[in-house]
Amino acid sequence: MKLLAIESSCDETSASVLEKVGDVIKVYTNITATSVDLHAKTGGIIPENAARMQVKYILPVIARALSGDEDWEKATLILKNDIDAIAVTYGPGLIGSLLVGVETARTLAYTFDKPIIPVNHLIAHIYANFIQKNEYHEIRFPFVGLIVSGGHTDLLIFRDHGDYEWLGGTRDDAAGEAFDKIGRVLGLSYPAGPEIEKLASGANKTDVKFSSPLIREDNFDFSFSGLKTEAARFIEKHDIVKHKTLVAEICYATQKSIVDVLVRKTIKAAEKYNCRTVLVGGGVSANQSLRENLITKCKDLGIAVFFPEKMYSTDNAAMIGTYALLNPINKNWKAVVANPELYFA
Ligand code: KG4
Ligand code: ZN
Repeated sequence: MKLLAIESSCDETSASVLEKVGDVIKVYTNITATSVDLHAKTGGIIPENAARMQVKYILPVIARALSGDEDWEKATLILKNDIDAIAVTYGPGLIGSLLVGVETARTLAYTFDKPIIPVNHLIAHIYANFIQKNEYHEIRFPFVGLIVSGGHTDLLIFRDHGDYEWLGGTRDDAAGEAFDKIGRVLGLSYPAGPEIEKLASGANKTDVKFSSPLIREDNFDFSFSGLKTEAARFIEKHDIVKHKTLVAEICYATQKSIVDVLVRKTIKAAEKYNCRTVLVGGGVSANQSLRENLITKCKDLGIAVFFPEKMYSTDNAAMIGTYALLNPINKNWKAVVANPELYFA
């Protein structure tokens, strides 16, 4: 089966053409237009700005994914003759952004008489780990899934394709949100996660310490808003302009506080549910410290850990298509509607 996949739940506009060849998911194209420069200017995403850019980008991005250039006529011929179904993110996300992708998918599905496979964006982040891989070769069910993005931090157990259970998640801010908010107080540009990671690598690792909220609690919940307050108070009390090295130390302490709690609770879930495999997904899964810490600690326990290739950690359409290829539930275009509140239904 060959798919056109569309992702537009937050600030990216992405389209991908991919196919399941035997057991392997092959990504032929994955085109993403980002409006991050626009959001950097406003210090975060303004939903209307994101959706406006997506309206502008969606057709050129789809045309490029299908035909390699922006020739819409060529693209529609390929869609008509080569594509079996259209996968699209239908939630959760920003309503305006979701509508751009979903309504485009519905229109194309109606016009070219194709089925739609609606996809949950959060679950798709975990499925980024199946890209270019044989479905059964390395990743084994049951596995623990850790979703760490700008809007979500969740732990789930996956018993099979389409059979998953939510174990816990953040009570307030998500891990990526904590990176972004602390970065904002430090005067870093949005999104701050990658820059905090870069600055943290040059830090003296012992001077500043922040707590890891809920780390010892016997549950799978997270809380990162207290960390943001702790970091903001510290920044208020210290002259970070005069003491330049402090910025790197604050970045290191922020990253350590977040990584420590993510690693501990993920391993706890794997042990409790007897999973020998862990899959991580979402923008924060690009973080090298999270990757190294989780891999090292899991190796000692005989647990295999998978992270997506970094280009598939942040939002992209290839992960949406990958989920759809492994969970191919076709719907008529009329039955697919955007659901910004969708969680783990
Ligand atoms: O999954 P994603 O692309 O979008 C959402 O669905 O939210 O995640 C974006 C988040 C942002 O908060 C960004 O700061 C964070 O992922 N992020 C990182 C890194 N790269 C992206 N956080 C820490 N370290 C990174 N290297
Ligand atoms: Zn995402």
